[in-house]
Amino acid sequence: MQNSWAGGAPDPGQYFDSGFLCLGLETSCDETSAAVVAGAHQIRSNVISSQIAVHQRFGGVVPEIAARRHLERIVPVVEQALQEAHASLDQIGGIAVSYGPGLVGALLVGVSAAKGLALALGKPFIGVHHVEGHIYANFLVHPELEPPALCLTVSGGHTDLVYIRAHGEFRVVGRTRDDAAGEAFDKVARLLGLGYPGGPAVEAQARQGDPQAYPMPRALAGEDTLDFSFSGLKTAVARLIQELPDRNPRTLSNLCASFQAAVVDVLVSRTVQAMKKLGVRTVLLSGGVAANGELRRRLEEAVRQQGGRLYMPPAILCTDNAAMVACAGTYRLARGERSGWDLNAVPSLALPEAPAASGASA
Ligand code: KG4
Ligand code: ZN
Repeated sequence: MQNSWAGGAPDPGQYFDSGFLCLGLETSCDETSAAVVAGAHQIRSNVISSQIAVHQRFGGVVPEIAARRHLERIVPVVEQALQEAHASLDQIGGIAVSYGPGLVGALLVGVSAAKGLALALGKPFIGVHHVEGHIYANFLVHPELEPPALCLTVSGGHTDLVYIRAHGEFRVVGRTRDDAAGEAFDKVARLLGLGYPGGPAVEAQARQGDPQAYPMPRALAGEDTLDFSFSGLKTAVARLIQELPDRNPRTLSNLCASFQAAVVDVLVSRTVQAMKKLGVRTVLLSGGVAANGELRRRLEEAVRQQGGRLYMPPAILCTDNAAMVACAGTYRLARGERSGWDLNAVPSLALPEAPAASGASA
């Protein structure tokens, strides 16, 4: 357990006051990001330095290159975040950093920077689970939002249905058994020669295509599970590519539309299943794939049909960014949590679970 409780009881209210500035750092994959968030909900700056151009020619993220690039970018990105927020370092009240899961070399850059700043400033710092950050992008933009809630987190590394029992208490009730949804988008894009990252490119192609043009598998359909499986989709697309006599722009957009429809169908139906099973009406969407317009539309409609409400961050807060980390960190700081100097990067970190007796069971 990396996080520890502070001895004294801080006044939680002070952290939600616009005078409290949290500096967030995010370096778990291929974005170097720093943000200043006031009172957990007001984004004063959110600088995202993307490495996409660096990794594009390799068709995916190269871990060593990502770590080196974070090292080069972290100081200028923090400086820019402070400048845009019109804040000086001594006005920062606390520091929050993603410490896992992710690429270990990449995470270490953020964790070391957070510790260095905390030591120099004499301010508290807190390690945040990267997926908790994604989930809190919703709390960041919807201050009125309160648990319990169900969150569908769909990114390049995760496809999880998470029951949020209370702030900071999670229970993963469904997860992918193989590829993450974003990974499936990236792999299919690669097969189709659409480059990296695949999600936005596949979505753009899908807009012109027919979602029923080609049959695609809906894995685990009809099974009594909240889990997902997306690896079969990549195989199905690969087979179709081989079988298709010619690859014109029409077949490309039809393939993308059919693939995207299959992913969205499964994500939507599992989320509705989880709502019914857990009796939850408040649903959140998060992670890079949450930027997908078709998923946003279809899930919103499905949740409304169940009498629920879907919350989702704007697209820019769906993909990796430090503002979501600062928000999640502020909620933890407000509960009196602090990380110790032993905080380390944890590449396969698990989400902090709700106590077994009190969480939803599924
Ligand atoms: O959350 P994120 O920035 O990084 C991880 O934590 O993984 O998510 C990146 C993933 C990539 O797989 C990317 O292809 C996918 O999110 N993505 C999308 C869209 N925008 C990004 N997938 C589908 N549609 C999009 N518009
Ligand atoms: Zn992410």
